[in-house]
Amino acid sequence: MKDIRRVTIADLLKDPSAYVGKEVDVKGWVRSRRGNKYVQFVALNDGTTIKNLQIVFDLAKFSEDSLKGISTGSSIHVQGELVESQGKGQTVEVQAGEFEIYGTADPDSYPLQKKGHTLEFLRDIAHLRPRTNTFGAVFRIRHALAYAIHKFFNDKGFYYFHTPLITASDAEGAGAQFQVTTLPLEDLPKTEDGKVDYSADFFGKEACLTVSGQLEGELGATALGCIYTFGPTFRAENSNTPRHLSEFWMIEPEMAFYEIQDNMDLAEEFIKYCVKYALDHCMDDILFLQEHYDKDLVERLKFVVDNDFVRLPYTEGVKILEESGKKFEFPVFWGADLASEHERYLVEEHFKRPVILTDYPKEIKAFYMKLNDDGKTVRAMDVLFPKIGEIIGGSQREENYEKLKNRVEELGLTGMDWYMDTRRFGSVPHSGFGLGFERLVLFVTGMQNIRDVIPFPRYPKNCEF
Ligand code: 4AD
Ligand code: MG
Repeated sequence: MKDIRRVTIADLLKDPSAYVGKEVDVKGWVRSRRGNKYVQFVALNDGTTIKNLQIVFDLAKFSEDSLKGISTGSSIHVQGELVESQGKGQTVEVQAGEFEIYGTADPDSYPLQKKGHTLEFLRDIAHLRPRTNTFGAVFRIRHALAYAIHKFFNDKGFYYFHTPLITASDAEGAGAQFQVTTLPLEDLPKTEDGKVDYSADFFGKEACLTVSGQLEGELGATALGCIYTFGPTFRAENSNTPRHLSEFWMIEPEMAFYEIQDNMDLAEEFIKYCVKYALDHCMDDILFLQEHYDKDLVERLKFVVDNDFVRLPYTEGVKILEESGKKFEFPVFWGADLASEHERYLVEEHFKRPVILTDYPKEIKAFYMKLNDDGKTVRAMDVLFPKIGEIIGGSQREENYEKLKNRVEELGLTGMDWYMDTRRFGSVPHSGFGLGFERLVLFVTGMQNIRDVIPFPRYPKNCEF
């Protein structure tokens, strides 16, 4: 092979005219091969774009035999002239001059032979599915959104603050934590009263994987002003739904001196920024997903960017649901935790736009939320989205030491002294929220199942790869 610098297919197709008439060097995986006894056409993909590059092998130049290892899934390195294409479906193609095969993929055993595998089938071969058009598109969009999130906060002067994944506190109080232990499960050390002796455990106490970085995020915000976290979170709830994962990524901004209105403004601006970023940078992938999975995708994304979110107290939301005359599977009444069907009714049928629901009953929300003057509701805010339901959960935090202490005691929480210190020393009004990253990716890609927007999903009874 000649000494030519490799060009990615994305770079090449960004400005093909710069390469036409020149020799190019490309590498990638074969998506398909077809042709006749004079010429063979290979669709090459290198993961940098949804688009394939057509490679033309002239059989006057190459023997059939030498091309034998070139089949769907094999990896090749090709050098040849880039020429304008005569055929339909592409503007340019490479006339193969020289090539080498890196790795073959036996057609009898390579699972991704034909188009149109079901998403369920592909979930079972999640180690290979990134090589499909669909998952390539999803994971490129996922990357772009992650980048947009860091850019958004960095440009606003927020600091990326790293909170621990192993923790001894249950931030959300939902009791859905995975335990972290090195104790021998078949022979647990016991205390005199028959309980597990955690003093013998690795950390000398009971430890879990975090369900949220918020509490430690508050420590950051009450020192640095505005911070955000962006990391994995773990929930052992037995939720087998298209919107729940056992391991998911969450973005949690936390801001000193922000009240609930500021918090809502930030959440709305943040989501719009991310969706717009994807529209501006991932259109090829979005259009592919629109064509194959969700014909209204672009319209829905643009709608979210261009329209104000409704802001509505929970109490009014419940009234709308009660008066809707709709038969819901789960009952609605003041005090009920809203189910996804209720959230989606408000968003998709009643208001037909995203809704920020505020001021929930304190009983159905976490201990740290600021109590309203009515003594019954807290300054919570959930952002509800079409197709998704809850995409963001957040609140203004209770900054009053006595009120927070009462709530902690009411709920019997222990080991919170370090958290209470933020309220004992220089307490300030502050707010924050958590965006479920996969729910955002779900929304932007138009996919139906959250298991299809993370490379290796974790859910009950599944821990493959
Ligand atoms: O509403 P949640 O439980 O809020 C918190 O954890 C707060 N500490 C956030 C904060 O105020 N800093 O979770 C936040 C978001 C939800 O709105 C949802 O988008 C996502 O995280 N989420 C999940 N995503 C995937 N799978 C799960 N099991 C999820 N549970 C929550
Ligand atoms: Mg929530």
